[in-house]
Amino acid sequence: MTETTIRSVVVTGGAGFIGSTFARLLVERGYEQVRVFDKLTYAGNPANIDDLRSCPGFSFVQGDICNRDDVERACEGFDAIVNFAAETHVDRSLMDPGEFITTDVYGVFVLLEVVRERGLKRFVHVSTDEVYGQVSDGSWVETDPLAPRNPYSASKAGGELMLGAYVATHGVPALISRGSNTYGPYQYPEKFLPLAATNVLDGQPIPVYGDGLQVRDWLHADDHAAAIELLLCKGTVGEIYNIAGSNERRNIDIARIILDELDVPEDMLKHVTDRKGHDRRYSMDCTKITKLGWAPSVDFESGLRETIRWYRDHREWWEPLKSGEFGEYYRRNYGGREVVEA
Ligand code: NAD
Ligand code: DAU
Repeated sequence: MTETTIRSVVVTGGAGFIGSTFARLLVERGYEQVRVFDKLTYAGNPANIDDLRSCPGFSFVQGDICNRDDVERACEGFDAIVNFAAETHVDRSLMDPGEFITTDVYGVFVLLEVVRERGLKRFVHVSTDEVYGQVSDGSWVETDPLAPRNPYSASKAGGELMLGAYVATHGVPALISRGSNTYGPYQYPEKFLPLAATNVLDGQPIPVYGDGLQVRDWLHADDHAAAIELLLCKGTVGEIYNIAGSNERRNIDIARIILDELDVPEDMLKHVTDRKGHDRRYSMDCTKITKLGWAPSVDFESGLRETIRWYRDHREWWEPLKSGEFGEYYRRNYGGREVVEA
C-alpha cells in the first residue's frame, strides 16, 4: 500500500451523478481545493453541485477533457485528478457510439498526458464492471481478462488500456477503479432506476427489457464515492480495484420494489424488446479493496427505497431533464420496441 497526501483535486465529470456525490464528499472531508471540471453535456447538470458553490475551496470550470488547453489550465496547482467524465449510457452507445470513443478513450489519453507533463501526484480513473463483459457463474477478479460487449464498455476498456500503457512506459501515478451499478439521488433519468421511478410518478409504465431476469450488483453512490476517496489516498499506482455493493438483484425485482414503494399495481410493468447484446449478469469479487479498509455501509433495500422517495420528492430536479432532448432520445430508444411476453 502507498499512502499519499492529496489536498487539492480536480473532479472531471463532477457535474454528473457519481462525480457530484464524490465532490460533495471531498468538500465534507475538508480537502483544501475541490474543482469540478465538466463539459456539461446533456448528462452534466449544474444543479447537482449548487449546494457546493459557496463552500470554501470549491470551484467550477466548464471544459472538455478532450481539450488539452482546457485541462492544463484547470489542473494548474492541483495535486490530483479523479476522472468521472464519460459518455455513460449503454443504450445511447448502441445508437451513437462516436462520442463514447472520443471522450472515454481520447479524453483519458489527454488527461494522462497532462498528468505526465505537469507531474501531478495522482490520477484515479473511474471505470466499470462492464469491461469484464457478462459472467454466468462466479465473480470477476481484477486479473481476469477484459471482454467488453457493447460500444460503451469497449470504450471504457480502451481508456483503461491507455492508462496501463502510460503507467508502464512513463511511470504516470495512475490507478483504476471498476464500479458496479450505482444508485442514489441525482442520477440522470435515462438510467433504469430513475427512469422507472419517474415514469411511474408520471403515470407511465416501466419498460423492462426482455424477461427482466438480467442481474446487476447495486452500489449506493455514497459508498462508491467513499471507495474512490480511499483509493485516491491509499490505492497503489498501476493497480485496479473492483468496487461492488454485493447486492445482486434481477431487474424485475428492482422494478417491483419501485412499484411497491410508489404503491402502484403490477400492470405498470411492460416487458419490451430487449437491448441488443444485453449482458446477462455482472458480478465482481471485492476482496482487494476490502483489504484496504473499504466496506459498503448503505443497506440495499432501505437505500433503494430512500432513493425512490428522493425522486418522488424532487420532481423539480428531474422534470426539466425529461423534456427537450430527452423526449427525442426516448422516442428513438423506446419508440420501436414491441411489447413482449415475459
Ligand atoms: P453521468 O453520465 O451522470 O455523468 C458524466 C459527466 O461527465 C457529466 O457531468 C458530463 O457532462 C461529463 N462529461 C461527459 N463528457 C465530458 C467531456 N468530454 N469533458 C468533460 N466532462 C464530460 O455519469 P455517472 O453515472 O456519474 O458515471 C461517472 C463515471 O463512473 C463514468 O466514468 C462511468 O463510466 C463510471 N461508472 C458509472 C456507474 C453507474 O452505475 N452510473 C458504475 C460504474 C462506473
Ligand atoms: O455496471 C456499471 C454500469 O451500470 C455503468 O458502467 C454504466 O455507466 C451505467 O449506465 C450502468 O449500466 P447498465 O446498462 O447496467 O445500466 P442501465 O441503468 O441502463 O440498465 C440497468 C439494467 O436495466 C440493465 O440490465 C438494462 C435494464 N433496463 C434499462 C433501461 C434503461 C431496462 O430493463 N429498461 C430500461 O428502460
